[in-house]
Amino acid sequence: MTSIFQLPRLAWLALSSLLLVVALVGLPAALPPVALAAEAPLPHDSSALAKAVVEVEQLDQMRIALASTLEGVSDEPTIETMKEVCKPVGMRAMAIGKDNGWQVRQVATKFRNPDHAPAGPQDSQVIDLFARHPEITGLWEPATAAQGAGLNYYRRINVEASCLACHGTRDSRPGFVKANYPNDKAFNFKPGDLRGMYAVYLPELQEALATTP
Ligand code: HEC
Repeated sequence: MTSIFQLPRLAWLALSSLLLVVALVGLPAALPPVALAAEAPLPHDSSALAKAVVEVEQLDQMRIALASTLEGVSDEPTIETMKEVCKPVGMRAMAIGKDNGWQVRQVATKFRNPDHAPAGPQDSQVIDLFARHPEITGLWEPATAAQGAGLNYYRRINVEASCLACHGTRDSRPGFVKANYPNDKAFNFKPGDLRGMYAVYLPELQEALATTP
């Protein structure tokens, strides 16, 4: 697996405001070293890459903001309140994909919705990398052979205290979760744990541009 570039968290924060800062970190020993200089040209229009980063940051902020509305609420979340947290995130992910000609997924090893299981070896390898390297917030990979041309962007999803109302201990899960997700694996998390990742596939740039309004 060859990573195009990886950003540590601090550089990530800078990127959010500047979008031009590209910092390279040493690649984990498990991965083959990649010869990539800081000045190496990105293989795609960097504005599309920057847009993918921004869209995913906004998606993640949306979930955090929605989950925080449950904090301090003593009532058990119901199917109605759940709709105000992770469901709109999934719908927004689909909409971002449709608007930009990308595919936007959520992926988790410990998944609740089986649709979010890792789809292939690259998914599994990147999740494993995020699990072993909490300092890596996001990274790019070349498209898989099955995808063909294009790029994949991955961004970690961390557990916040506000997520535990529904992703805490097995027993403390709301009734609607126990009832609707009999094969649920998405519990027993604690704040700071890796919950999963966003995975954005950007096909050939021409294709992406053709579908961008
Ligand atoms: C009110 C309950 C609730 C809260 C709070 C909540 N989640 Fe979820 N979460 C769910 C449910 C239910 C699903 C499955 C949704 C579906 O079927 O697509 C889910 C799915 C997910 C998924 C998709 C992967 C999977 O396992 O299916 C991620 C990632 C996720 N949640 C992260 C978070 C994070 C991070 C927080 C806190 C910021 C959070 N959740 C807070 C109920 C919740």
